[in-house]
Amino acid sequence: VTVEYADLPALALESGQTLDSIRIAFETFGRRSRDDDNVVLVCHALSGDAHAAGHYVDGGPTAVDGIGAEERGIRSGAGVGWWNNLVGPGKAFDTDRYHVICTNILGSCRGSTGPASVNPAPGRPFGPDFPVVTVGDMVRAQRALLDHLGIDRLLAVAGGSLGGMQALEWSITFPDAVDCCILTASTAALGTQGVALNAVARSAIMADPDWQGGRYYGTDRQPDAGIGVARMIGHITYLSAVSLQEKFDRRLQDRDTYSYKLAEPDFAVESYLQYQARAFAGRFDANSYLYISRALTYFDAARNHGGGSLERALSEVRARFLLLSFTSDWIYPTADAIRLETALRAAGKLVERHEIETTYGHDSFLLEDVEQTRYIREFLARSRAG
Ligand code: COA
Repeated sequence: VTVEYADLPALALESGQTLDSIRIAFETFGRRSRDDDNVVLVCHALSGDAHAAGHYVDGGPTAVDGIGAEERGIRSGAGVGWWNNLVGPGKAFDTDRYHVICTNILGSCRGSTGPASVNPAPGRPFGPDFPVVTVGDMVRAQRALLDHLGIDRLLAVAGGSLGGMQALEWSITFPDAVDCCILTASTAALGTQGVALNAVARSAIMADPDWQGGRYYGTDRQPDAGIGVARMIGHITYLSAVSLQEKFDRRLQDRDTYSYKLAEPDFAVESYLQYQARAFAGRFDANSYLYISRALTYFDAARNHGGGSLERALSEVRARFLLLSFTSDWIYPTADAIRLETALRAAGKLVERHEIETTYGHDSFLLEDVEQTRYIREFLARSRAG
């Protein structure tokens, strides 16, 4: 696998602003059929990238649009695709059968155009001058890429979390282009608790003096502390109370008793969060985090497409749906999947929903493979058979 880039023409955004040109990073897996009837688009979550599957042997997709990765302190990833559990030969999205495409979303820092990209007019990174982007804009950028590749229809569009929002948006915005829509650990609108926690995470970045109003590129300071705290908050929401307990209990890190020092990470869970924070600060741009987190909270299928009614928003949808949720996911709970299922049924659409028992929390969509594989394989096989 290798990351590819497409330079695409101007994109008009929901905010009313326009990006004069955009670059989209993408990867493909499996062969495209002669009739183009086997294309599956998989969509990543907040901090993912185009590298959905496979394993880089020579470092991760560090090339970024506009400004050098090293300059921005972005190190190569461990190299394993974020949905490697589900995408590959014989897996849920079987690359012996399907041609799987994954794009890095608009606004990200992992190869597609985002706030770290160079704004051509002044010739320096956009920073806070980057326009606010929405899930709808991300999807239209994906549509532009597929047009560029000569692909009209998708057998399926699938994703977890923010990726599932993109899948739902696809089915609403381009109803004739999508046969199947798979949402796992996702929702038609993030709950208020999620909106609140995203606001705290963004505040942590903007409160870091090294954020410098978003104009930190090219300076020798960047808001690593702020994005680290944002990641810690996010990371706690990705796990469950049970998984935290099971992983760390109240274990102390490398010691038998408390240090009695305020700044010492005494507990194993503290040390773990600090490790995750450092790792994230090393690979993700803080401004991208702000923009994508904003898009995540703006997504509201009912408000954006149905004048407040989810059923009305879904009225033109033609895809059949598979909705998966996880018992321990408290941030994208099963209640959200049920709400979407109910609205789809009321709108007369075909929908299948399953709740999977796990302790992994929201991260289940990445980590749980056995049942997700079974449901997705069966759903795709049935759909393909008509
Ligand atoms: N102190 C310091 N580091 C610790 C630690 C401790 N007490 N305990 C574990 N670690 C480190 C390990 O050394 C390991 O490091 P490595 O990744 O460099 O090898 C890492 O933490 C393991 O993390 P863990 O979360 O336990 O791995 P996992 O296999 O259970 O989960 C992921 C893998 C990718 C799902 C998880 O790490 C992750 O990043 N989750 C967030 C993914 C995400 O963005 N989800 C949200 C989508 S919206």
